[in-house]
Amino acid sequence: MMALASLTIRYQDEVVVSCEGGDACNFALAEIAACLEGQIDIEKVDIDEIDRLLDKATITVDQLIESIYDGVIVVNEDNRIILFNRAAEKIIGISRNEVIGLKATKVLENSRLGQVLKTGEKTIGDRQNIGSTTIITNRSPIIIDDRIIGAIATFQDITEIEALSSKLDSTIKIKETFGNILEYASDGICMINELGTIVYLNPQFEKSWNVTLKDALGDNIKSTPLNISSIIKAVQSKKPHIGLIDQRVDGVQILSNTTPIMINGVFRGVVIFSKEVTELQKLLEKLNDAEAKIKYFSEELQWNQRFHEAFDIIIGKSKALKNVLDIAYKASQSNATVLIHGESGTGKGLFAKAISDASFRKNKPFIRLNCTTIPENLLESELFGHVRGAFTGAIKDKPGRFELANGGTIFLDEIGDISKDMQVKLLRVLQEREFERVGGDETLKIDVRIIAATNKNLEKMVEDGTFREDLFYRLNVIPITLPPLRERPEDIPLLVKHFVEKICKNEKKKVKNISSDVYSILQAYHWPGNIRELENIIERAIALNDGNLLDSSCLPDYLALQKKIESEDLINIINDQIAPLEEYEKAIIKAALKKYKSYNKAGKALGITHRTVSLKAKKYGLSLPQG
Ligand SMILES: Nc1ncnc2c1ncn2[C@@H]1O[C@H](COP(=O)(O)OP(=O)(O)OP(=O)(O)O)[C@@H](O)[C@H]1O
Ligand SMILES: [Mg+2]
Repeated sequence: MMALASLTIRYQDEVVVSCEGGDACNFALAEIAACLEGQIDIEKVDIDEIDRLLDKATITVDQLIESIYDGVIVVNEDNRIILFNRAAEKIIGISRNEVIGLKATKVLENSRLGQVLKTGEKTIGDRQNIGSTTIITNRSPIIIDDRIIGAIATFQDITEIEALSSKLDSTIKIKETFGNILEYASDGICMINELGTIVYLNPQFEKSWNVTLKDALGDNIKSTPLNISSIIKAVQSKKPHIGLIDQRVDGVQILSNTTPIMINGVFRGVVIFSKEVTELQKLLEKLNDAEAKIKYFSEELQWNQRFHEAFDIIIGKSKALKNVLDIAYKASQSNATVLIHGESGTGKGLFAKAISDASFRKNKPFIRLNCTTIPENLLESELFGHVRGAFTGAIKDKPGRFELANGGTIFLDEIGDISKDMQVKLLRVLQEREFERVGGDETLKIDVRIIAATNKNLEKMVEDGTFREDLFYRLNVIPITLPPLRERPEDIPLLVKHFVEKICKNEKKKVKNISSDVYSILQAYHWPGNIRELENIIERAIALNDGNLLDSSCLPDYLALQKKIESEDLINIINDQIAPLEEYEKAIIKAALKKYKSYNKAGKALGITHRTVSLKAKKYGLSLPQG
């Protein structure tokens, strides 16, 4: 009856009451109907019987609360838990037996039911975390007769929903990102499904193909205005294809790659990536450009590197000089014999000293022997020493240059000038590193690094039979050929400044400026005496100069004169007739080949590459003069 009484029935509400059973049931129904109609005589009613029947047939509030999916917690006015349903047990993970009668805050630290009791205000949709579970809670006070007698909280576990929604969020983000990538990709991208229907194309695809295709979405790829026969073939093959070339209507070539889309092993369509070939060509050009720059800078780096401080005495920045410096530095780091060749005054002595000073023998003796300055009959004793009485005048034992150089370096200057007899004797030392003093019979062993130099053409001397071939090969282990000064005029300003500084320091003179015509005259000169000649000219100029400025008046007349003669003679106009330019070119190439007998040297003199010289020689039917 209580359950029934708890129903609020308003006037004119239709109430249907039914029950299954026998007479007792019918009686009870009649009583209820009478009660509802207001005709019931409450005194006469067998209330216990009615309650019994109703209890049997009615869903109780407890049952309801127990069966709902939401958690329900009810507290009394002291904030002590009086109801804790099964869903609450499951969500919070505590059994109701443990919590009934406890303060809500004891059970749930963050419980806000106490606040609801205090304020009497509802809270809706409050999100909370309990351990790893996220719940969303509604709370409201229970008010009877304007008095708060308790509070109720209903809550749902939204952990899974949250996880799902965050998955959904990231899926949406990924989709957006991929969408952007596809839209802004520099390649043209088109996707077609397994039936050949266009399902996606990006703006770049339209740009590459120079057509508007947005309306073609949903059309078959074959019905587009694109001339894509090779792509269509590739699509039909269902295999990946790289480097397909098709032609745009305007003739521009389009390069495409196709990739089949396989989902669970089933062919679902094809992605096409397209690019204009011209774009690739531009990229290729850029790449070539970058490669050339890298090559240039790495060469520059190599040229600008400091080889070893011992080489600082050698002035110049021309490529020709840096090339030999590079070889000389490498030679200095080995123990091999070095043969330096170069015209007179090109710095052979300087290089020999630098190589020795940069080597591991730098703190050991550096012994120089100029083979031309020693009379032939004394050379052997100079090189190998002698014992007392070996010849007239040999009054005591004397060590030779080889012995003195032991552990260090011997520099055999002007090696091309030694006699054939001496060549044989030298060969033995080079091969065996042993010898006897003149007149002695004790064999001496030495550890010496040999550097030889000459301005003679030893190869030619070998051919002529004036220099032993075996000795030549023994000496020519690391050949270094020093370029003449006329082949590297760009070194002249540096050398001039270097010598001006050096000589001024020695002579205690001051030269502040050097006029530019000094450089132009010196750079036009052909320098038969090379750097030694330049040094002498500067020395003379400083001696003659009494101001701060070094100008062309301090230079010997023959330098300026030579320039004048050369410029006057450069083009010989016969009978006032000017020949076609190619005639002059042919004559110049011919003269250069005649003089230098090498494309390389002729090229250097003319300021063009050896390849250009050989191409031009071929064009004019010129060949290298022999000998
Ligand atoms: N690159 C250079 N930088 C500075 N000074 C140099 C350079 N080359 C040569 N010299 C100077 O020029 C002069 C001649 O050099 P060196 O005696 O080494 O030449 P060489 O080739 O041995 O000549 P020769 O065959 O006549 O003996 C020296 O005073 C030397 O210091
Ligand atoms: Mg010399």
